[in-house]
Amino acid sequence: MIRRAYSISHPLLDGSRRLLAQKDCDFLEFYITLVGKPFDTPPSLTPRLFNLRPGSRIFVDPKTHGRHTLESIESTDNVVFAATGTGEAPHNAMVAELLGRHHHGKLASIVSVRYRRDLGYLAAHRLLESCFSNYRYIPLTTREEENIDVSKVDFVGKLYLQDIFSSDMLSDRLGWEPDPANTHVFLCGSPLMIEVPVHGDDENIFPKPTGMIEVLTHRGFQPNYPRVPGNVHFEKYW
Ligand SMILES: Cc1cc2nc3c(=O)[nH]c(=O)nc-3n(C[C@H](O)[C@H](O)[C@H](O)COP(=O)(O)OP(=O)(O)OC[C@H]3O[C@@H](n4cnc5c(N)ncnc54)[C@H](O)[C@@H]3O)c2cc1C
Ligand SMILES: NC(=O)c1ccc[n+]([C@@H]2O[C@H](COP(=O)([O-])OP(=O)(O)OC[C@H]3O[C@@H](n4cnc5c(N)ncnc54)[C@H](OP(=O)(O)O)[C@@H]3O)[C@@H](O)[C@H]2O)c1
Repeated sequence: MIRRAYSISHPLLDGSRRLLAQKDCDFLEFYITLVGKPFDTPPSLTPRLFNLRPGSRIFVDPKTHGRHTLESIESTDNVVFAATGTGEAPHNAMVAELLGRHHHGKLASIVSVRYRRDLGYLAAHRLLESCFSNYRYIPLTTREEENIDVSKVDFVGKLYLQDIFSSDMLSDRLGWEPDPANTHVFLCGSPLMIEVPVHGDDENIFPKPTGMIEVLTHRGFQPNYPRVPGNVHFEKYW
């Protein structure tokens, strides 16, 4: 049997296009990308998952595991979720949970994808933004024409999460300045975006190229570890 970890996502809206609270969702939703070919060994599970038909059997572990949760979030905290690709899955569930419990702090979900068509939840997020004044959804692309064709008048270059968080673009797009004193950041997706530091003798050693934990540390945030609580929570997908 091939087993892989998956985050539980959330549809965000019910059939009447209203926020579907986490507690009212009576099924599991997953947001899974079909991994492509450019690897030495072909991906094992996702081609099989995408060949399933209604009624096909699949094993799901009855227990959920993990620490990428809202456990440490107070109702007045600001929360920024940042993800690559399907890394937005757990953040969708957390956004629904926080909006459903009328969270008082500001909330934002920022997602970096190759193409706009990869934004599976865009319409639902846009609707939620129009209903909840404390919520923003900020999609970033990296392979559209405006990201790669310098001759385009709207050329902006590749927009990685690190570029946004290390510049004024972050507060411009959020409409507020994230202060480490009252803001938590959740990171999920590609390990190259996250880049967990290695503990050296005196200080943390950050891998290169620069990942989000390094960028956030320079902004005054602290990574969250099991024995050392911090305000940067992270989940690597591989
Ligand atoms: C805690 C956790 C939660 C996860 N949640 C999700 C989820 O909600 N949705 C999801 O699509 N994946 C998720 N993953 C990744 C998932 O477990 C599988 O690795 C992925 O679906 C590919 O499986 P595979 O057997 O086809 O390929 P694998 O052999 O597992 O992976 C092959 C290669 O594909 C790339 N890759 C793997 N997953 C992704 C991805 N999601 N996006 C881009 N490239 C990837 C990596 O380079 C990896 O080395 C999660 C992983 C972990 C550890
Ligand atoms: N996306 C699709 O259209 C599509 C469709 C079907 C299947 N697939 C397959 O699914 C797999 C995953 O593709 P995906 O696009 O979902 O996920 P991904 O490759 O993890 O890319 C998601 C986003 O992360 C960015 N990124 C890459 N390296 C980064 C870094 N060091 N720091 C910060 N951000 C970084 C990517 O930009 P870059 O542009 O620089 O990579 C992209 O914008 C691939 O095997 C692909 O072939 C993709």
